[in-house]
Amino acid sequence: MPDTLTITDNRTGKTYELAVTDGTIRAAELRQMKTSPDDFGLLSYDPALVNTAACRSRITFIDGDNGVLRYRGYPIEQLAEQSSFLETAALLLDGELPDRAALDAFRAAIEAHREPPARIQALFAGLAEDPHPMGALIAAFGALGTYYPEARNIQDAEVRRRQIHRIIAQAPALAAYAARSRRGEPIVPPAAGLSYAGGFLYMLHAAPGKPYTPHPVLERALDVLFILHADHEQNCSTFAMRSVGSSHADPYSAVAAAAAALYGPLHGGANEAVLRMLRAIGTRDRVPAFIESVKKGEGRLMGFGHRVYKSYDPRARMIKQVADEVFEVTGRNPLLEVAQELERIALQDEYFVSRRLYPNVDFYSGLIYEAMGFPADMFTVLFAIPRTAGWLAQWEEMLRDPDTRIVRPRQIYAGAPRRDYVPIEQR
Ligand code: ACO
Repeated sequence: MPDTLTITDNRTGKTYELAVTDGTIRAAELRQMKTSPDDFGLLSYDPALVNTAACRSRITFIDGDNGVLRYRGYPIEQLAEQSSFLETAALLLDGELPDRAALDAFRAAIEAHREPPARIQALFAGLAEDPHPMGALIAAFGALGTYYPEARNIQDAEVRRRQIHRIIAQAPALAAYAARSRRGEPIVPPAAGLSYAGGFLYMLHAAPGKPYTPHPVLERALDVLFILHADHEQNCSTFAMRSVGSSHADPYSAVAAAAAALYGPLHGGANEAVLRMLRAIGTRDRVPAFIESVKKGEGRLMGFGHRVYKSYDPRARMIKQVADEVFEVTGRNPLLEVAQELERIALQDEYFVSRRLYPNVDFYSGLIYEAMGFPADMFTVLFAIPRTAGWLAQWEEMLRDPDTRIVRPRQIYAGAPRRDYVPIEQR
């Protein structure tokens, strides 16, 4: 069977044979299909790029119909159970699980770069009185690049690697600075010898100069959540990372753009929205009425549905397990009952079943974060910290890909035809 696609253009009667590679055709080949020599050629119309492979990637594999997620070939369940966030980050960046020496070297590089430049602390004091920590984090990522002008040299692999280490290493500190400065508390800089998640908890909760030991169950739970959020192939924020990166902007600016995309409630902001929704519902008995209002189109069931997963999000399954471990330490979050009832009813309701809407990663993560004492507006920040690893792995891959060019989609112009300017007194 030839791997080709034959297209007959009924406008002209001409037939074209296009190569099919990896289940795709090259969209640019459509351009040869013209109705006249000065015709621009055929374009494909794909709002939101739902059926367009915008790159070739070796990082993350998702089978949305069967609820499969793998980083570099390794099932997410195995990584969540056996790996650590930093090992997973090294895997995402380098393509292979690091051996002991490589992991030690990666950890040492992250440790060496963990402290943000001292002057950046003043940035947080200059923001609004009670800023959303995501807004603060986006500003901080952009600002961080001003300290490292070498970052603009994106053609140098060593320079790139140094910025990758800096961004992954400093993300927890910037996030903790954002959280503490809005609470009016003095900043606690990173300490040596802690795990990635443990170091973050330390910067958030330690009193300056006092010892602080994170609860090992909560530290591990956060590390697992970081693994689950480390990458998710070509989603909105990763596309923002690649799109901005394709203009050869420095990685700090591209990460700020990716974080801005993540901030939206249809993406990383969803877990915050889930919690607001659960609070508004309040009690189990009010769940059926809420489900009915969603079905009438009066709002969405936040934390449900996914562009790619048309079955249970495998991350949501893992998160449910983590939730049990966390609640044993913190006590049960009373909103868990509301969430479980929502899931129970939705999974048997024709509206959700026929649209293949299942819980996504955000449905239960907010409940865990709340039980761990995080305010709701920190949830997206908790998503952004580990996602720096995925964004940067995707950025590095994009820059090494010979197919990469600056992102520049086409449009169907649907506006006014040419017309002459009318002076204001004649309108
Ligand atoms: N609640 C109710 N109905 C929904 C929901 C939902 N959460 N999600 C989708 N639908 C319905 C739509 O109304 C639409 O119905 P229709 O065919 O009758 O018009 C149908 O299901 C298809 O929905 P789309 O919006 O076309 O699906 P899309 O792939 O564009 O959206 C998205 C995916 C944005 C995640 C959507 O499901 C949603 O808004 N979910 C709630 C927000 C959320 O949880 N986001 C987190 C995603 S995971 C992440 O980013 C980490």
